[in-house]
Amino acid sequence: MLPEIRFITGQERNSQMEIVIEDTLAEENDPLAALATVSAYIFAFMERLNWVGFYIARGDTLVVGPYQGQPACVRIPFGKGVCGAAAAERRAIRVDEVGMFPGYISCDSSTRSELVAPIIIGGKLFGVLDLDSPEPARFSEDDLRMIQRIANLVAKAVARSATLEPALV
Ligand code: SME
Repeated sequence: MLPEIRFITGQERNSQMEIVIEDTLAEENDPLAALATVSAYIFAFMERLNWVGFYIARGDTLVVGPYQGQPACVRIPFGKGVCGAAAAERRAIRVDEVGMFPGYISCDSSTRSELVAPIIIGGKLFGVLDLDSPEPARFSEDDLRMIQRIANLVAKAVARSATLEPALV
């Protein structure tokens, strides 16, 4: 299923990743499957990451969704940490050194830099997409813009799909 990515480097890797994710989201109508697959693709394509995943807005709390990496914080209050700030301010945030970020929540002590983009559907916050790296300043401004584009694709896919609530049949 994965294209041969071992020989692709740098920006070309990100471009290929966006294409694969766009194709996946165009075809998949189940939000849980879409989120799980997007987190797995990002983790497979982008190098030097230790965690990638989603936090979903539930009331005034972010609750962890599909992810790749070590077990993470399950709930994050709005406004707390990088994810909480991106959710509360509804903007993508890039942090070069997480230890310097006010109110940073440490789920994995190996994380040094972080990228978070909000997922907005019809003006409402659905959740955030969070990437963590063990390398300081791992993420560029191009990465930030790319992750926001992917978050927007996720928003479109979730908006046209069924609810995340379990079906009672
Ligand atoms: N460090 C994050 C919490 C989430 S995880 O790292 C998986 C933050 O401050 O938002």
